[in-house]
Amino acid sequence: MDVATTVAEVRACVRNWRQAGLRVALVPTMGNLHAGHLSLLAAARFRADRVITSVFVNPLQFGPAEDFAAYPRTLAEDRVLLEAAHCDLLFAPPVDQIYPDGGAQPTLITVRSLAAVLCGQFRPGHFDGVATVVAKLFNIVAPDVAVFGEKDFQQFIIIRRMTLDLQIPVEIIGAPTVRAPDGLALSSRNRYLSAQERAIAPAIHRALQAAVQRLDAGDRNYLGIESAGWQALAVAGLRPDYFAVRDADDLQPPRTASRELVVLTAARIGKARLIDNLRLPLVRL
Ligand code: PAF
Repeated sequence: MDVATTVAEVRACVRNWRQAGLRVALVPTMGNLHAGHLSLLAAARFRADRVITSVFVNPLQFGPAEDFAAYPRTLAEDRVLLEAAHCDLLFAPPVDQIYPDGGAQPTLITVRSLAAVLCGQFRPGHFDGVATVVAKLFNIVAPDVAVFGEKDFQQFIIIRRMTLDLQIPVEIIGAPTVRAPDGLALSSRNRYLSAQERAIAPAIHRALQAAVQRLDAGDRNYLGIESAGWQALAVAGLRPDYFAVRDADDLQPPRTASRELVVLTAARIGKARLIDNLRLPLVRL
């Protein structure tokens, strides 16, 4: 595996691959890799001849009171995992490669209808930071395909919309959430959980499953389902930010024409804020 830390290096590498007619995939990450990330790499490997993984803890997507400084940085371990997963190039730039103006970033990308709801209400500016850094990575790497985890479902929808609206020629692939045996979605932020909090956290998956079961049985009392989910989380000892049933295409409230629903939640416990979701297709083939 090659390692690049500058924009010039990664561009030169991709230029060579393109000249050889190879298809290139990008897996954007913030590092601290786990089995969830490795599943993204496997999906990328399946769709391309060469796989680039970026590891960049993006300051622009963290609010002032959030965990940017504490976010786990484990580049040496990440490198070992990426080698074993047959990644071709690790792109691990320092902040000044991505934000050369000393952190100032006058240009921001906002996906207006999608960034203000759900997590956007609790993390103002977060999705602008995500969309902006992903657009930069797409411009730097110019991949044919990019893979994102569906655990961050709102992020996935926003990136897909941004890519479509800005006519960026990158195919966006979503990879299914990877879970621990007790249902907890794998996340770098699970590291923040104490043993007691870790034992409580699978309540998130259980609450989502209960909501999906009601929807699947034909229950369309969305407010009732949301309030039951919220209660289940609170009773388990979590502090929910939201528990919502939405149309999976645009994150708006469900409507008659909805083809797929998604139940999304964000809940806090101790120092961690955990997010998860489950989808339910309504149009069955
Ligand atoms: O999901 C993440 O790890 C980040 O939000 C991403 C997409 C790498 C952008 O910084």
